[in-house]
Amino acid sequence: MKIDIVSIFPEMFKGAFSESIIKRAVEAEKVEINIVNFRDFTDDPHLKVDDTPYGGGAGMVLTPQPIFDCVESLKTKDSKVILLTPDGIQYKQRNAYDLSKEKHLIIICGHYEGFDERIRTLADMEISIGDYVLTGGEIPAMVLVDSIVRLIPGVINERSHIEDSFNDNYLLDYPTYTKPRVFRGMEVPEVLVSGDHAKIDAWRKEQSIKRTKERRPDLLE
Ligand code: ADE
Repeated sequence: MKIDIVSIFPEMFKGAFSESIIKRAVEAEKVEINIVNFRDFTDDPHLKVDDTPYGGGAGMVLTPQPIFDCVESLKTKDSKVILLTPDGIQYKQRNAYDLSKEKHLIIICGHYEGFDERIRTLADMEISIGDYVLTGGEIPAMVLVDSIVRLIPGVINERSHIEDSFNDNYLLDYPTYTKPRVFRGMEVPEVLVSGDHAKIDAWRKEQSIKRTKERRPDLLE
């Protein structure tokens, strides 16, 4: 898979993609990630990418020209273009699964107070990562890339995402423990050290349902 991130703050991505699982996925060529600065595409002699809003109002608005030219230079017949915006559809694990099957993603990060409405016509999909407003689409882009790349076959042990919270059965994860068996008086549940795998599976399923009922009853609807 190839992912192009269209942003005027490429430095923001350095840390996020240079550690841990994403770094390994890039090294193993499971994914290619490019950060493309759309300021490089502006026709403005002063390299401006924003301007004041028609009709007045506070703040600056991203102009369409640099983003159009940038996205058009990246786009192929296999591309899916995503625009990050708080008014997009709410991002869910289901979307991460679907997007992990794409060949090429182009992710546009909006910034400042907003972007020219015509930029929306470039997008196949508009995504919000939650009902709060961030300063731009860069952090949401990191969230998307992280959640998608880990699902690409061979990036992590398949079993760990079959068991993820929010996968198709919409249950939260069961509790997990490691050593020591007793820590500050808190004991690992007896069943987990019983060696009886049928019993362990049943206990985990039951705990998943219990936790979901308590914390996220909306997922069971
Ligand atoms: N840009 C600013 N806030 C955002 C959000 N919640 N989701 C996606 N893009 C955004």
